[in-house]
Amino acid sequence: MSFTCPDSAFSETVTEVEHYTDRLFRFRLTRPASFRFRSGEFVMIGLPGEKPVWRAYSIASPSWDETLEFYSIKVPGGPLTEHLQNIKIGDQVWFRKKPTGTLVLDALLPGNRLWMISTGTGFAPFASLIRDPEAYDKFEALIVTHSCREVAELAYSINTVALTKADPLVGELADRLTLVTTTTREQSAFMGRITTLMENGQLYAHLNLPPLDPEHDRVMICGSMAMLKDVKANLDAAQFTEGSNSMPGQYVVERAFVD
Ligand code: A2P
Repeated sequence: MSFTCPDSAFSETVTEVEHYTDRLFRFRLTRPASFRFRSGEFVMIGLPGEKPVWRAYSIASPSWDETLEFYSIKVPGGPLTEHLQNIKIGDQVWFRKKPTGTLVLDALLPGNRLWMISTGTGFAPFASLIRDPEAYDKFEALIVTHSCREVAELAYSINTVALTKADPLVGELADRLTLVTTTTREQSAFMGRITTLMENGQLYAHLNLPPLDPEHDRVMICGSMAMLKDVKANLDAAQFTEGSNSMPGQYVVERAFVD
């Protein structure tokens, strides 16, 4: 059966699907020529149907890329993801034409270092930003942290950073990009919740950098609600101001949506 895509959405073709674990996968879609977005923004995704279920997904590819990448969790019984996880190359996926979001470079005041703190699928918007040359124009150093329960859940961030460093367009710039991965429930080289590692200073010791300072550091946070709340509280206590599209600040926050 074929369904008519609403005027407010694009219908695009799946070009790649890669499954990492029984909970995580990524896919790519063709990109409509008229679709513009800023790296770090999200769109509403749905599958063709009479009454599609729409869910917010960060675009994980940079704004210059010819195709659009998305990184997704698979929620058992989830109204969208239980179907989305079965997509194959050649299938159609719909997404609403209007991108939005606060994890954009425009929402931050100038600074020296850009810290991108993520848990789980919250890494997705940072997969876009670390591949955007503008991020390297604006910041001397980019640090992206990704914390998950288990090692296998780090595959997407580790692969994406490796691809970024090998990329002909941004690879040289990405010499200034550092990925820090941590696990909380399985043994790995660096363990602990990111909040704990910030509070006890292990994160800074690991990177040989000074602790976050509102004068030099800018922070983007994306992941679980509990993590956002705790990192935000630490930043507020350190006198960081929250930014938005209309009023740039020293940090910005967005929850990872589908859960
Ligand atoms: P933990 O295993 O200690 O709960 P989830 O898979 O539940 O979305 O979690 C992703 C990661 O976020 C896990 O490593 C989890 O650690 C971590 N996490 C959960 N809550 C917080 C929090 N309040 N502060 C920092 N990290 C958190």
